[in-house]
Amino acid sequence: KEPPVTVPHVDDVHPAWLPPEAFRAIGARRVLVLADGSPLSGTVRAEVADACARHGGAVAAPGEPYDLVLALASGGSLPPEAAALKGPELGPEGFLLARTGGVSAVLADAPAGLLYGFFAVVRLGEAAFEGERPAETHRPALERRMLDHWDNIDVHPVMGQVERGYSGGSIFWRDGVLHEDLTRVRAYARLLAATGVNAVAVNNVNVHATEARLLTDRLDEVAALAAEFRPYGIRVHLSVNFASPIALGGLETADPADERVRAWWARTTERVYAAIPDFGGYVVKADSEGQPGPFAYGRDHADGANMLADALAPHGGVVHWRAFVYNHRQDWRDRSTDRARAAYDHFAPLDGRFRDNAIVQVKYGPIDFQTREPVSPVIAAMPDTRLAVELQVTQEYTGQQRHVCYLAPMWSEVLGFRFWGEGEPAVAEVIKSGGLVAVSNVGDDRYWTGHPLAQANLYAFGRLAWDPGLDPVAILDEWIGLTFVPGDDEGGERLRATLHGMMDGSWRTYERYTAPLGVGFMVRPGHHYGPDVDGYEYTPWGTYHFADRDGVGVDRTRATGTGYTGQYPKPWSEVYESLAECPDELLLFFHHVPYGHVLHSGVTVIQHIYDTHFAGAEEAAEIRALWAKLEGDGLVDPALHARVRELLDEQVRSAEEWRDQINSYFYRKSGVPDARGRTIY
Ligand code: GCU
Repeated sequence: KEPPVTVPHVDDVHPAWLPPEAFRAIGARRVLVLADGSPLSGTVRAEVADACARHGGAVAAPGEPYDLVLALASGGSLPPEAAALKGPELGPEGFLLARTGGVSAVLADAPAGLLYGFFAVVRLGEAAFEGERPAETHRPALERRMLDHWDNIDVHPVMGQVERGYSGGSIFWRDGVLHEDLTRVRAYARLLAATGVNAVAVNNVNVHATEARLLTDRLDEVAALAAEFRPYGIRVHLSVNFASPIALGGLETADPADERVRAWWARTTERVYAAIPDFGGYVVKADSEGQPGPFAYGRDHADGANMLADALAPHGGVVHWRAFVYNHRQDWRDRSTDRARAAYDHFAPLDGRFRDNAIVQVKYGPIDFQTREPVSPVIAAMPDTRLAVELQVTQEYTGQQRHVCYLAPMWSEVLGFRFWGEGEPAVAEVIKSGGLVAVSNVGDDRYWTGHPLAQANLYAFGRLAWDPGLDPVAILDEWIGLTFVPGDDEGGERLRATLHGMMDGSWRTYERYTAPLGVGFMVRPGHHYGPDVDGYEYTPWGTYHFADRDGVGVDRTRATGTGYTGQYPKPWSEVYESLAECPDELLLFFHHVPYGHVLHSGVTVIQHIYDTHFAGAEEAAEIRALWAKLEGDGLVDPALHARVRELLDEQVRSAEEWRDQINSYFYRKSGVPDARGRTIY
């Protein structure tokens, strides 16, 4: 039997979007919970009791009066307000929210729905207890809403402990062992549940020797983590190394067609489920950037994925098989190889061959989490495969949590993209059963995410995965309300307006001062921070811009280039192919053009580069100035204010560095001066 749940509170760690204040509206009231004996119902009871103990309300006993009822619809003894609401099926995670006759009600078919309904009331705050509220039904649009951690147990000599992590060490492991006190993991689970996330992969997709053993002799550590996530409805997944049968099983092969290999995976997976009955499944990076995979045995990715899917199927698990497969040792002299084509070329022909419990996980763009990329054509090319889209909440290419860069507007564009044109399904509909996945930005930093304002990205990821149609600015407003609890007075209004002013447009600001017009990269090789225009130009990585004295950009057309535009269905295959129709923001992704080419905006490419880089750096300075105005007026905690202020200094410095390197580079290449005569070096 599970021990009763206690609500986690961790000293010295910022409460993010669940500060005690956020529970005042619920906690000050009388709350009736009508649920079952499941652990998740226990969590709802514990949350209600915790809020009420803090804010003077009370947990109502049956028969006592109440202001809010949280009830399982299956319960026999529904009070009349709730019974009257019973309507359409809500599913395993959905809930219904209403307010009638002075009583607010949350109704769910299953305990997870009750938990999500509870957090919906937290988000609403006082508004949940005002006036009348006609019944609203809430169900997650996507079945799977998952965060992938790129955490290692050991500290990797190049990547550190968390690969591409900018928030300190891992919240799971320290000094080679699991943290002794896992309360923080429970607190993390709670934060995620409040956004709607229901799955977490705990370790890096590059599975090194120590971490590979999490599957076998270190499985108890995964089980211990699962025990912290479980009370908040989150299933734990594990990244596994494709060559495990060799490294851990003592076999001489990992060939998916070999019976001994298949039997090893089946046995090993059985042991995993014996230890963690609700284990989610595996995540696999295979034949990618040096990781082992099925190619070594002349098998394809469906063979590899299906082998693991078969091992997981008897237990209800899934394998997330990543489509991030490309040649990272290409010859830069060879203009016919195009990294953007790789995922489609490898995976599209396999459509229909993957098992039902295999999910092909596709990065949102064809290259690698750039600030601006076209949406990956793989998503449109596999109608008979469960597809998940992978985003990067950790800001590897978007400022590494030193720059303010609110990413929800980009994600929302991706999720709303319609491959087949207006009126046809959007990406969010294509990935209904596969889901949305993101690389987490969390570490053992006091603010969870290094940059305190980067918490908004984590929050927004969960909210968009639940409802991809939400407005990113509205999500940000929700996050501000919960995290900073601004009052209705002048100060509160000012704080809200300041944060919106800093964050609403920050992704576009970042885009303006970094690589222009969708061409991507131009970052320092290795760590990927700061500008280095030619840093990757003569490397094997396949990320080139081809700037010369006449022009810049990658010709990916069918007519004269790599043919990548042909991976899109109509209308986009034609829109992107056409120099006249291609959207400005992706022009250099698809076309190589002269510097004098005139954009839809009316300015030349070279002048656009100058204008946006001056504007972007100026906007970074404005963001800093907005924050500075809050200093000392008591609206935000002084320590948090100071942390953000320091980071903004770095953002402004870095934006100027980007501006000057990019502008100087293109001025020197093209010889075309800035029409407005500004300083270029
Ligand atoms: C990027 C990133 C790597 C990561 C890889 C992946 O290339 O820089 O650190 O391993 O993506 O997604 O697998």
